[in-house]
Amino acid sequence: MEHKPKLVYITRKEHFNAAHRLYNPSWTDAENEAFFGKCANKNYHGHNFDLYVTLKGYADPNTGMVMDLKKLKTVIKTYVVDKLDHMNINQDVDFMKGQLASIENIVVAIWNQLEPHIENGQLHCIKLVETERNYVEYYGE
Ligand code: NI
Repeated sequence: MEHKPKLVYITRKEHFNAAHRLYNPSWTDAENEAFFGKCANKNYHGHNFDLYVTLKGYADPNTGMVMDLKKLKTVIKTYVVDKLDHMNINQDVDFMKGQLASIENIVVAIWNQLEPHIENGQLHCIKLVETERNYVEYYGE
């Protein structure tokens, strides 16, 4: 029997619906439209986002777990999903204030929201799926 601790990765999948628009306030409306196209639509547009939060770590010998996934679910809900779900990301979300609401920026902001609340193991990856064809991953660098 091998007693060397084993590094494992655990993932919780969550979901939220939210609206955004891609808009750089230092550009003119015409420049925004030229670069971002329909994504700059002033009346916003929505996505059904899937969020994957992955931790890496060693199972605690007392629990057999890296972090209890029920606890991780609650942390994600409190600090991320409740703040984003059915919201306008440009206007309603405190942790996105002053940032361009791209999925790249959202995924980094989600990491920053969650990291202080990870009790065992380390945050490894945040993956945010915007459409069937587009997703972004962030590994904390
Ligand atoms: Ni979009």
